[in-house]
Amino acid sequence: MIKVQGLYKSFNGQAVLNDINLYVPEGEILAILGESGSGKSVFLQHLIGLLKPDRGTIEIDGTDITKLSEEQLLKLRAKIGYLFQEGALYDFFTVYENVAFPLMEHTRMKSKEITQKVEHMLHLVGLEKAAYKYPSELSGGMKKRAALARSVILDSKFLLCDEPTSGLDPLRSRQIMDLIANLTPELKCTTIITSHDIPNSFRVADRVAIIKEGHIIAIGTREELELSRDNSIQELLKV
Ligand SMILES: Nc1ncnc2c1ncn2[C@@H]1O[C@H](COP(=O)(O)OP(=O)(O)OP(=O)(O)O)[C@@H](O)[C@H]1O
Ligand SMILES: [Mg+2]
Repeated sequence: MIKVQGLYKSFNGQAVLNDINLYVPEGEILAILGESGSGKSVFLQHLIGLLKPDRGTIEIDGTDITKLSEEQLLKLRAKIGYLFQEGALYDFFTVYENVAFPLMEHTRMKSKEITQKVEHMLHLVGLEKAAYKYPSELSGGMKKRAALARSVILDSKFLLCDEPTSGLDPLRSRQIMDLIANLTPELKCTTIITSHDIPNSFRVADRVAIIKEGHIIAIGTREELELSRDNSIQELLKV
């Protein structure tokens, strides 16, 4: 579970996260929607300790990660799959090598076990035929799927996806969101997705949170959000 209380963060005196309170139970898929610059990526970066809050607590499975040392944070990050907005594959590695890399770095698995695990993961994301291609030979959607496979290969308990559909056409957007939705029960993880893709977010998420100027102004199912009188929420639901 993820529990955030009273989270504040400012850059140069400008508040970017302004009293975020959020509880995400185990196994949930939560989507966070909000305008560009509303604080979605900054929020996700706090959940892996890449950014430190000015105030507030962030509990992950009961541990307040704002109090952890760098060494403890490294251990925590091994449990968290993080799909960066840019994807960030190693250009000089094949898809197979990209996905195998965390296993070689962080485990003592034998090469045969690594091969089996990577092949299984590439099968889950539908990239078994692209295993020996380099990132430059992949489409945008394939790159996202490869990055997703790499981000969860260490049996992540949490999956954080920052704009997984950015730059993808509607069909590929749908595919990557479906993939995240299917991987969540497969890995038994808890998932947060930030997105501008409103229809797909409502389709795959258990709940949707709306962030505005660094504050969560509403959270719930589509039906629950429809009860809101807030204009910006009503505008969003029209899409
Ligand atoms: N490291 C940083 N230093 C200073 N300001 C930052 C930093 N990171 C983000 N910001 C600012 O924080 C605000 C929120 O940025 P953030 O990247 O979280 O937006 P976002 O909701 O993810 O937007 P988008 O939908 O475009 O990805 C922006 O005004 C941005 O300029
Ligand atoms: Mg962002």
